[in-house]
Amino acid sequence: MSTPSKDDNINTTDGKVLSGPASKPPQAVDLRSVMRYFASAVTVVTGALETGELFGLTVSAFTSVSLEPPLVLMCVRNESSATKLFQKSMKYCVNILAEDQRPIAEKFSLSGEGGRFQNLDYYLGSGGSPIIRDAIGYIDCKIVEVIAGGDHTVFLGEAIDVYAEEKKPLLYLNRRYVKLE
Ligand SMILES: Cc1cc2nc3c(=O)[nH]c(=O)nc-3n(C[C@H](O)[C@H](O)[C@H](O)COP(=O)(O)O)c2cc1C
Repeated sequence: MSTPSKDDNINTTDGKVLSGPASKPPQAVDLRSVMRYFASAVTVVTGALETGELFGLTVSAFTSVSLEPPLVLMCVRNESSATKLFQKSMKYCVNILAEDQRPIAEKFSLSGEGGRFQNLDYYLGSGGSPIIRDAIGYIDCKIVEVIAGGDHTVFLGEAIDVYAEEKKPLLYLNRRYVKLE
């Protein structure tokens, strides 16, 4: 990582000084090299189809958007098997994991892993999506907008039911799971 310095300035022939790296030719930006240092909570976002099929994946790209109406968003890779399923079900439940739930995060992030709900302690919420027991809490949503976001799809959700209790969170930082001291 580098910070702009005077060495980045470009002196033009007409005496002007173009400042900073912005005046250099565009370079590919590696967002991951920065975002890895952005600590986040770990969630498992679950869903259910009318057929009863359950699905879900580990998600850190989650944030609140608005309090009135209560809106949140989460981003899912276009290539994830869950993307099409969320578009079908038009609902999801964000389960905020507690620090001892790392094995759940690992199970729900393995590609092509079947049986994610086997041996998982959960129940179906009023919206029909699975709610994981002993998590910090959940935000059960109906999807109100699906937005294209490059190689990810942004799912804007309106909260229909929420719950939380004070517990230590599971965090993710620099590609590792970490706990609060
Ligand atoms: C800590 C952590 C956070 C993740 N956050 C996201 C995320 O925000 N969005 C996403 O699409 N994938 C995220 N992933 C990756 C997905 O969990 C993973 O690609 C997915 O479960 C693979 O399953 P699939 O092949 O069935 O889609 C994350 C993985 C980990 C370990």
